[in-house]
Amino acid sequence: MLLIDRDGPIRRITLNRPEVRNAFNDELIAALADAVAEAGRDGEVRFIVLAGAGKLFCAGADLNWMMRAAGYSAEENRRDALRMSQLFESMIECPKPIIARVHGAALGGATGLISACDIVVAEEGTVFAFSEVKLGILPAVISPHVIRRIGAVHARHWFMTGGRFDATEAFRIKLVDRIAAKGHLDESMDALVSELLSSAPYAMSQAKGLVEMVAAAPVRDVRDDVVDLIARLRAGDEAKEGMSAFLERRKPSWVAPSQEESA
Ligand code: COA
Repeated sequence: MLLIDRDGPIRRITLNRPEVRNAFNDELIAALADAVAEAGRDGEVRFIVLAGAGKLFCAGADLNWMMRAAGYSAEENRRDALRMSQLFESMIECPKPIIARVHGAALGGATGLISACDIVVAEEGTVFAFSEVKLGILPAVISPHVIRRIGAVHARHWFMTGGRFDATEAFRIKLVDRIAAKGHLDESMDALVSELLSSAPYAMSQAKGLVEMVAAAPVRDVRDDVVDLIARLRAGDEAKEGMSAFLERRKPSWVAPSQEESA
């Protein structure tokens, strides 16, 4: 269901149901939530890379599971949808950045999955769609995450047409942050990974929280929090190491943040 590479500072989590194009059901959602939580707690892990095995990244919700859910009671249906919503929230709240490596296609719920990631890299030629309306359903649970990324204007257009679009359009509407040339996705990922590995791990994790805290709030409401944050970080070990390294013209030596720091 999931392949998890626990080696070193990068936790690589790969959706592994290629026979159904990595469509996710309740079991995959639970496994992914556990894997993200575990990576979040692991003091050795600096960031997570989320990918899909086989031909494409992910075909969204498993339609067999969705069909089964049609026979559930209203309460069971709510619980099921809530678990998906909680997965996305746990990704946002995870103290480690999550990078999506997207190839082939990201359809329906998969667009929600990538929207809950911090950085999305897609290979040229990847196909995207909010295809729910074509199936008589809605991109409801994913919508808060998608709309935070692409805004209401693009969501209105693509949620209603449900049409397919390519990586260039996905980049234009900000669903995707970087496009890799066809056949060069791993190269592009390697470049991003080395950029991230050269960032101070604790500062990088705090940067994720900082964006979360500030994005939706009026400046005045977050003023004290951002002041406290920089006051705390600039007196910390990473700042001492980072700034001395710059002044001494050497590379900084980062250590993974301790568990309390990464919490
Ligand atoms: N849920 C369940 N099964 C799915 C699935 C999904 N979302 N997407 C694909 N599959 C299954 C197919 O039923 C097929 O099963 P089979 O081999 O038993 O017939 C298998 O995966 C391969 O799919 P296929 O369509 O033959 O592969 P493809 O590579 O030609 O096309 C897609 C891949 C993803 C473009 C195509 O399967 C598709 O459009 N899927 C629906 C995507 C969608 O609308 N998702 C939104 C859900 S909210």
